[in-house]
Amino acid sequence: MASPGLQLQLSDPELKLLQTLVYQECGMHFDSRRAHFLQDRLQRRIKECQVDSFYSYYRLLISPQGKEELTKLLENLTVNETSFFRNKAQLELFHKHVLDDLLRRKQEKRDFSLRLWSAGCSTGQEPYTMAMLVADALSYHCLRNPSGHELPVPKPLIAPPWKVEILASDINYSVLRAGQEGIYAEHHMSSVDYNYRLRHFDKVGDRYAVKKALKELVHFDFHNLKTEYLPQHNDVIFCRNVMMYFDEAEQKRLIEKFFRCLNPTGYLFVGHAESLLGLTDKFNMIYRDTGTAYQKLEVTS
Ligand SMILES: C[S@@+](CC[C@H](N)C(=O)[O-])C[C@H]1O[C@@H](n2cnc3c(N)ncnc32)[C@H](O)[C@@H]1O
Repeated sequence: MASPGLQLQLSDPELKLLQTLVYQECGMHFDSRRAHFLQDRLQRRIKECQVDSFYSYYRLLISPQGKEELTKLLENLTVNETSFFRNKAQLELFHKHVLDDLLRRKQEKRDFSLRLWSAGCSTGQEPYTMAMLVADALSYHCLRNPSGHELPVPKPLIAPPWKVEILASDINYSVLRAGQEGIYAEHHMSSVDYNYRLRHFDKVGDRYAVKKALKELVHFDFHNLKTEYLPQHNDVIFCRNVMMYFDEAEQKRLIEKFFRCLNPTGYLFVGHAESLLGLTDKFNMIYRDTGTAYQKLEVTS
């Protein structure tokens, strides 16, 4: 049993074993610059599990009984930093250009469904931001294109016949639970203007709870982006600040999977520090000011 003060210093081969396991399980790549972080998180788990050596812990991780511990280790290794309305220029492009284009084309085809996916959603700020922007864009679209449907009272957030589904997925169960709960402290709300706070949040004590109507648009679920079978038929995918933890080979594989998960001419948003440049020729980059996105190219035979 590990003594409480025991500090395990991993040897290079031990570190390599663990790096390989983590990479195979979830695609996260820990190069020498991030080895210290890996070492630190591993110490915590080894202490918690009360095992006496790295090898006992490693054997546990790869055993059938170790599935739960592997999930916990991966949770400890993810970086979950996020915020509402993160990267405003990109969201402006999403709101004013992408949604406008999608709604207009869908209306022409009389297809009144929108399916969006926040892949690597962390504690939910990203998918709820998407939901607020979609609700706005759709109200504006419906004003200009009245459907003739009589609206129920009180007016629903999404006017029929439109249907909006936002899938929010992550590999970390604890962030998924927080997103599902949808309750945020004041310091999380600094980027949410008062107009949005009033419309989409209830004040509960000193915290803000996402209102039921907005919450109903977002469905939280576990998906590991490393796996082959990922949610299909999306009009838009947000996968921001996730790929930066993968190496180039894994990034290429993920982009290929996103290509297959998108509807024709669908859109992919990646983080500010991420790019598809040099990784694929199956997307066209679009931009407004400093906001960028990628549109799936039609395959011509
Ligand atoms: C830095 S957060 C980004 C949150 C949000 N997309 C944003 O930009 O604000 C990265 C998230 O990706 C998740 N993640 C990392 N590897 C993943 C994988 N293989 N499958 C699914 N989610 C993953 C992490 O758990 C974490 O919550």
